[in-house]
Amino acid sequence: MSAELLNVFRKAHQDPEAWPIYIHGAPGRGKTCAMAVLWRNWPSPGWPRNPLWWDAASLVRAITACRRGEGGMADICGRLRSEEGILEEIAETTLLCLDDIGLRSPSDAAYDILHAVMTARRRNPTVITGNLSPVQLAKLYDDRIASRLAQGTVLELCGADRRLETTRILRINQ
Ligand SMILES: Nc1ncnc2c1ncn2[C@@H]1O[C@H](COP(=O)(O)OP(=O)(O)O)[C@@H](O)[C@H]1O
Ligand SMILES: [Mg+2]
Repeated sequence: MSAELLNVFRKAHQDPEAWPIYIHGAPGRGKTCAMAVLWRNWPSPGWPRNPLWWDAASLVRAITACRRGEGGMADICGRLRSEEGILEEIAETTLLCLDDIGLRSPSDAAYDILHAVMTARRRNPTVITGNLSPVQLAKLYDDRIASRLAQGTVLELCGADRRLETTRILRINQ
């Protein structure tokens, strides 16, 4: 990971105004890996609340299942989780990592859940990744969500698609 990126993360530990951190860029630029570095190095005195990692689509699925009365996912003790329980955990964790928001047109539920998450987190340490810039997010969701996401630090990861670095291209004459 670049020294510049590590520096942004290091400074954010001391600066409440640096949060949330929104990392965007095209696929394969290292957004999820960058967030994972912060997540792995975050102090975690208590488990499972410190820190918390959610894939955005899975979070929407889990909460939608709760709303349909399907009880959502079971926790580690086999108890079914509620929407309130999931959102309480999100509000209380010392670091929330939310991966891959805004993949396609959001449903009303996805909009509502992202809004609830951002309202619950306010300026507490939160990292969100997505393919879209804040301007594109404002168009896809609205500017209430975009302004909450972009009020701390916005990082754009540029460069080439790292996934394609390992592509093997074979040209075969038959
Ligand atoms: N700093 C890095 N140096 C080398 N490879 C990296 C780096 N960051 C990510 N990668 C590799 O690039 C690929 C895509 O990374 P990922 O974080 O999943 O991208 P994104 O979330 O932007 O789509 C992964 O296979 C990962 O191992
Ligand atoms: Mg990713």
